[in-house]
Amino acid sequence: MLDQVKALLEEVDQSVVGSKEELEQFRLRFVSRKGVLGELFDGLKTVEQANRRAVGQELNELKNKALERFQQFSDAIESGQNGQQGPAVDLTLPVVPNSTGTQHPLSLVRQRIIQIFERIGFNVADGPEIESDWYNFGALNFPENHPARDMQDTFFVAKSPVSQSEDLLLRTHTSNVQIRLMEQRSKEETFRPIRSIMPGRVYRNETISARAHCQFHQVEGLYIDRNVGFKDLKDTLYHFVKEMFTKDTKIRFRPSYFPFTEPSAEIDISCQICHGSGCNICKHSGWVEIAGSGMVDPQVLINCGIDAEEYTGFAFGMGIERITMLKYEVRDLRLYFENDVRFLKQFEGL
Ligand code: DAH
Repeated sequence: MLDQVKALLEEVDQSVVGSKEELEQFRLRFVSRKGVLGELFDGLKTVEQANRRAVGQELNELKNKALERFQQFSDAIESGQNGQQGPAVDLTLPVVPNSTGTQHPLSLVRQRIIQIFERIGFNVADGPEIESDWYNFGALNFPENHPARDMQDTFFVAKSPVSQSEDLLLRTHTSNVQIRLMEQRSKEETFRPIRSIMPGRVYRNETISARAHCQFHQVEGLYIDRNVGFKDLKDTLYHFVKEMFTKDTKIRFRPSYFPFTEPSAEIDISCQICHGSGCNICKHSGWVEIAGSGMVDPQVLINCGIDAEEYTGFAFGMGIERITMLKYEVRDLRLYFENDVRFLKQFEGL
């Protein structure tokens, strides 16, 4: 009997329990009174008097060991580990979703704008945010000390290291990239037509409120080739508006003034919020302005070294925040820059 108890002790020692079912089997065999221990304790009576004490001690050890192991196994299973085999993973459970970030609404709209224009042959160009007076104003026909410069409240940064008389500033619009692009192309041996859009961040010294911010985003467009006319400008922007919004969105060109285009027009679309019935976004007019545009002034072409007799072009510029506001009804510009996740989460999956 002593041998039998010793063999069982070893069995308890080497047992591995990885699941509730195995734990129950272990309990029935080693812990329950109906298991091997019950039988052995009953059999103790039949052991010779001389050995009974020693066998009894071994039996007690087996009982305690079995209980201790049972407790260990059951704790491990409760806490999700099954001791020897690493974590108990139930592969049939549905996964806990990892929360991922969302795309910022301005990125979503910028990408959509790029996509629409790329499909009709425009490519994307880029330029600096810290700019010299010449690229931001001078080359675009803003005369020195002319009140036109007051149209855009400028953040001046420093005097230019190249020319002390020239200011460095944070660009007030993306139109600086027009100039850089035209200047670059005019230096090439044969002039290649330009058909580009230029998204980017711009800065103006405005008091921050729901309707104005000191930083925002624009997309500039430029098309320079032989025989580009106002009709091409209209066709292009009609196409854009219908793709960006809905096919039944109405568009109107309103004569306007920009120093770098002649003629110039502002572009209004039918209000996407109230659809014409009148709301405070469209100031009850049913129309919202989305872009400035026009035929590039020949003087601007000349400033960039392009033959204004041979080439013509159109340009336009629009605010990404404005388009996003109309598309997603974001009524406060500050929301774009606060990065409150409750705001950002609303654009999940778009
Ligand atoms: N740069 C103008 C602004 O920020 C927008 C603009 C108007 C851009 C007409 C253009 C244009 O390219 O042709 O207000």
